[in-house]
Amino acid sequence: MIILGIETSCDETAVSIIEAHEHAGSPATVRVLAHELISQTAVHAPFGGVFPMMAKREHSKNLVPLLERALTTADILPDATNATNTNKHIPTQSAELISTILTREPELAVHVQAFFAKHTNVPAIDLISVTVGPGLEPALWVGINFGAVLSRLWNIPLHQANHMEGHIVSALMPTDALTKTTPLTDLALPAIALLISGGHTELVLVEKLGSYKLIGQTRDDAVGEAFDKVARILGLPYPGGPEISKLAAQHNPSQPLPIPALPRPMLHSKDFDFSCAGLKTAVLYLVQKLNAELPDGLPLSIRAAIAYDFEQAITDVLLEKTMRAVDEYAAHSLIIGGGVIANKRIRHAFEQAAEHRITLHLPHTELTTDNALMIALAGFIQKNHARVVTDTIAAPMSAQGNMKLS
Ligand code: KG4
Ligand code: ZN
Repeated sequence: MIILGIETSCDETAVSIIEAHEHAGSPATVRVLAHELISQTAVHAPFGGVFPMMAKREHSKNLVPLLERALTTADILPDATNATNTNKHIPTQSAELISTILTREPELAVHVQAFFAKHTNVPAIDLISVTVGPGLEPALWVGINFGAVLSRLWNIPLHQANHMEGHIVSALMPTDALTKTTPLTDLALPAIALLISGGHTELVLVEKLGSYKLIGQTRDDAVGEAFDKVARILGLPYPGGPEISKLAAQHNPSQPLPIPALPRPMLHSKDFDFSCAGLKTAVLYLVQKLNAELPDGLPLSIRAAIAYDFEQAITDVLLEKTMRAVDEYAAHSLIIGGGVIANKRIRHAFEQAAEHRITLHLPHTELTTDNALMIALAGFIQKNHARVVTDTIAAPMSAQGNMKLS
């Protein structure tokens, strides 16, 4: 089957197309037909964070060009330029449907009208999978309404995808699938998934693909959020994760830390929850104290040491809790997903800990941040493993900012 994935939960607009098939007795196969994405990082960076209304505007602008590109790359757009429809009109009923569904996205409605005037044939797509949550609701709505319009006008079922399931299954997308039909990475079950992103920090038990149980989560800030906030305290630009890493790399780990060690919150708590707010506050107080003592500002060696120990504190807690969950649930494999796993130190720590102990699945670095391939794949998995796909044609859907996995 061919699946169109749409992702607009935060500051990435993404449209992907995959071809995936079930095979009795052997693993499902997958091939990426198109993988299109526009990151809004540069748009939000001057403001130090993601502004939901600005994200909504950017998604409205980007979705149709990305869809056109994806359909063209996948070569499933039968009439790229429709010579017969010279007057560029679409049936009144379709035009009304577009303006009704996209009432709150008038700019997107204009792009969609133009798209349907140009492309009158229905592409060979079997399922549309769109992120309905969790995420920023104004941003989510754009993707949902876009998916609903396509579903109605093309008469293709629409699946309500959970963004966090997307991050879990992103680790199962084989790199070779980008160029050829490849077996989907086999997941030995039960598995533990650690999800670390800008909005979430979750430990999830995967007993079977498509059904998930949340066993732990952050009680306050998410890990990515803590990276972003600590970066701001250290005067680094948004997004802070990669900036903290660059600064931390300037610290020589063979040298003793020139600062008091930062706390490792909830390292030994019996549950699988996390807390990052105290660590962030510890950095804030330390920086304030040092600034009072050093009127000329903090030297690079001190700032690098803070970044280094912050990164290490996060790594220590994530590793301890995750490996404990692996033991307690006798997991056969470990998945890590979400933007923060782009962090080399965290990646490396898990690679080392997993060696000889458990099969570790990390997403291809390109798939660590938000993308629509993972949303298309989540749609396929729900349809074929969990068999709970929403196969209504654009049944009323809502954005679910706090959507849960279980
Ligand atoms: O999954 P993602 O792209 O978006 C959300 O769904 O939130 O994650 C974005 C988060 C940001 O907080 C960003 O600072 C963090 O991932 N991040 C990193 C790194 N690259 C991105 N954190 C630590 N180290 C990195 N190299
Ligand atoms: Zn995400």
